[in-house]
Amino acid sequence: MVDVILGLQWGDEGKGKIVDYFAPRYDIIARFQGGPNAGHTLYVEGKKMVLHQIPSGIFHQNTINIIGNGVVLDPVTLKRECDSVAAFGIDVKKNLFISERTNLIVPTHRALDKASELQKGESKIGSTLKGIGPAYMDKTGRNALRVGDLLDKNFISQYIKLRLKHQKLLDNFHFIEDITAWEEEFFEALEFLRTLNIVNGEYFINNKISEGKKVLAEGAQGSMLDIDFGTFPFVTSSNTISAGVCNGLGVSPKQINEVLGVTKAYCTRVGGGPFPTELENATGEELRKVGSEFGATTGRPRRCGWIDLVALKYACMLNGVTQVVMTKADVLDGFEDLDVCTSYKINGKETQEIPFQMMRSQIEPIYKHFKGWNMDTTKITDAAVLPGNMSTYIDFINRYIGAPVKFVSNGPGREQIVCL
Ligand code: GDP
Ligand code: IMO
Ligand code: MG
Repeated sequence: MVDVILGLQWGDEGKGKIVDYFAPRYDIIARFQGGPNAGHTLYVEGKKMVLHQIPSGIFHQNTINIIGNGVVLDPVTLKRECDSVAAFGIDVKKNLFISERTNLIVPTHRALDKASELQKGESKIGSTLKGIGPAYMDKTGRNALRVGDLLDKNFISQYIKLRLKHQKLLDNFHFIEDITAWEEEFFEALEFLRTLNIVNGEYFINNKISEGKKVLAEGAQGSMLDIDFGTFPFVTSSNTISAGVCNGLGVSPKQINEVLGVTKAYCTRVGGGPFPTELENATGEELRKVGSEFGATTGRPRRCGWIDLVALKYACMLNGVTQVVMTKADVLDGFEDLDVCTSYKINGKETQEIPFQMMRSQIEPIYKHFKGWNMDTTKITDAAVLPGNMSTYIDFINRYIGAPVKFVSNGPGREQIVCL
């Protein structure tokens, strides 16, 4: 049986905290897509930890964590992260497993990412520059190196072949970057990677499922960044939606049980691309300040706005969401008034559907207005004492998106979550 936790917006919904919270109920936590573009924040023993490659179940000693074949893996980031979790007494050699089919990010992927963004100029994606796009291009282009290749004696020659191909592309971009230091770190990190548990991920997970073990698949990014259904081309390069779990881990759709979708009580986006409810004013500024909305991977200020139910309902449909977790509800504690986007007006016509081309469409968000709750909710643990105005806000969202909000997160701490 596989449950899924994934983001319903443009990423950074608080997936890391939620996975960490639910992890004790599962035997295995599995990342199924994305790479070090992800930044999942959790608080362990009061200390802030940001995970980019390792699944967010790593701090639970009895939980197995697996990096699935759908992930693109930067060995340098992985090594750094393994070192930092070791400081908490976590032995990654015991509870971290990596699929041999996982694709590797090589230093020239990162250089290509930079070159591609530079060439795009004004219309750049706003990539995290971690090499994600080029790495997935090599996967679909059937050129990639995979973790299992590390065990092959021809690995170095395969690597040199790939680097040569990349060099030609970089020359075409007229992009020059000295990657000597990156490469040095990369090879050091590969030595470390070789010492970890490299497994046949699909058999590993399916055998565990047969034994009755419970798997939690952890998404990265968010549904509106999905390569097929997101705000293309301002998306990431993988399938972030629940369908990605099957090809990102090698499990059949029949195994998927609960799909928990995580949404903020408002909305943020980092990088370029359409964001109909964005508030480029004092209210947006206030959301950023109160919500500490700065990227966990790049530190960039996140763009902030009201919750967008058109996009949220779309995400629930694509993912088959069975339960919603609403995070950062406490960030709205001090707001007198709240708006909720219920439809888009495009060329004078109102719609509740996501259009094909959001960029070219002039989207005017239509809002329903709500009164704020104006009280500190961060210490609440019992749903019965949540403010009435918050319940009204949530009830409306439930009815609109057709999926129930079952959990409200009211602070970054592990224990700050209210079950409805
Ligand atoms: P992820 O990428 O989806 O895991 O989310 P990030 O870690 O990038 O961003 C979420 C941020 O919000 C982190 O700084 C979390 O510590 C914080 N956070 C998560 N849940 C809550 C919440 O309910 N309230 C508040 N105030 N912060 C939260
Ligand atoms: P988590 O897992 C928020 C955004 C980037 C950029 C676009 C493409 O922490 O929610 P990429 O590096 O994939 O080429 O960037 O996607 N992006 C994210 N935004 N959270 C993330 O991950 C993101 N991963 C990528 O800002 O706009
Ligand atoms: Mg994040």
